[in-house]
Amino acid sequence: MSGPSAEPNAVEAKPRPCWIAGRPEQGARELVVRHPFDGTEVAAVAVPGPDQVERAVAAAAAVAGEFRRSPAYLRAAALEHVSRRLDELSEEVAETITAENGKPLRWATVEVRRAVSTFRFAAEEARRFSGDLQRLDTDPTAEGRMAVVRRVSRGPVLGISPFNFPLNLVAHKVAPAIAVGAPILVKPAPRTPLSALLLGELLAETDLPDGTFSVLPVGNEETMALVEDERLPVVSFTGSVPVGWSIADAVPRKHVVLELGGNGAAVVCADWSSDADLNFAAERIATFSNYQAGQSCIAVQRVIVDRAVADEFVPRLVEAVRGLRSGDPHDPDVVVGPMVDEDAAKRVETWIGEATERGAKVLVGGGRSGATLEPTVLTDVPADVKVWSEEVFGPVLSVSTVDGFDEAVAQVNDSAFGLQTGVFTHDLRVAFRASSELEVGGVIVGDVPSYRADQMPYGGVKGSGVGREGVRSAMSDLTEERVMVLTGLTL
Ligand code: SIN
Repeated sequence: MSGPSAEPNAVEAKPRPCWIAGRPEQGARELVVRHPFDGTEVAAVAVPGPDQVERAVAAAAAVAGEFRRSPAYLRAAALEHVSRRLDELSEEVAETITAENGKPLRWATVEVRRAVSTFRFAAEEARRFSGDLQRLDTDPTAEGRMAVVRRVSRGPVLGISPFNFPLNLVAHKVAPAIAVGAPILVKPAPRTPLSALLLGELLAETDLPDGTFSVLPVGNEETMALVEDERLPVVSFTGSVPVGWSIADAVPRKHVVLELGGNGAAVVCADWSSDADLNFAAERIATFSNYQAGQSCIAVQRVIVDRAVADEFVPRLVEAVRGLRSGDPHDPDVVVGPMVDEDAAKRVETWIGEATERGAKVLVGGGRSGATLEPTVLTDVPADVKVWSEEVFGPVLSVSTVDGFDEAVAQVNDSAFGLQTGVFTHDLRVAFRASSELEVGGVIVGDVPSYRADQMPYGGVKGSGVGREGVRSAMSDLTEERVMVLTGLTL
């Protein structure tokens, strides 16, 4: 088949096809994708009708047994192919991400690099994924017995992905599923289906059996029927907190993986005090509270700084935020682009208003133009206002000062969420305490909570979700243990 459609900004005559059981099809209606920065039409996309969705689900269910038993080399080769093609096409893929999502090209390029790695890691893990041996002759009644414990696919996966990483968070649904031999149906975010459809094109270039993948850009309403479909025993959802938990509540007997929101904190400890330390923390926190206009579950939202370094640190942070250039995301010098749409920016503006009415001070930013919100730093923020207690998902940072690490731990944990926390310290004992006492899925020592390597376990506790992504962890989540006991062995 031909290579992926280039020219993300050119409006094509036909909508981009959806992928039904591995084949491109036109849909029952069209969805228009618009550029968040200026509202221009980027592309139209084919939205499948109910009969097409039914064919995708039926094909996934039909091929599940064969795919589960397929050889590792076939799955690894397909994953490697996608990784290589993403690498070859990286410039146009980055353009596609920027066009549909509005994130600056520099961040779109990082996302493509990450997706290249996500597929490569999955290819490597597919080759290694072998199971364990467990000796059972620990008891006289089990002499000569040994268990082979393998992990087998739970079955077809419904992967529901968000708009903020339209390529790599789709990759985190698709790559581990293929690695374990589980058919995958992807439901991309309605605002950003293009990268997922492009992945469909690359998957179609491989030798994966028909039915092993579908990309279904259906509306959020039609998704609930898929969630409830018993032929799809696994639902892997990344997105908003209320939608995620409503899915888990709707299908209590399914295996549901939820990667939800957070209100990520960065703690700057008293020992992080040299000029170099403070400048580094200020730069990193400024950048990663505003990357992708703050639309990441692990963006820095709360800065908790020890009083011992606050007077030195806060002005540097404010200057670093002031220095971030915002504007047209296609401009290579732009660091902060628009939010996904104007309504999202208006919501965050309202939340800033709520904070200032309750006594918060704006140290920098606060203004809005269309979908673009100025990078904003607040202080004196009451703990019960939304910019502190909820997930902002916008370029807003709130600074709080504490006396000592105990108080910092209490502030981080006083949250409905628990995804990742950054702790700027040189003290290993503080690092271990943080890892032990902070109620989060991950602690990043000496950096922002926004750090994520795609092979590492990633996920949250409390309201932030259940289960873990990261290629190997997701492969565990998509499979269940199957034990085979061998008897009469010479051990
Ligand atoms: C997320 O927003 O949940 C994903 C963050 C990342 O992959 O870097």
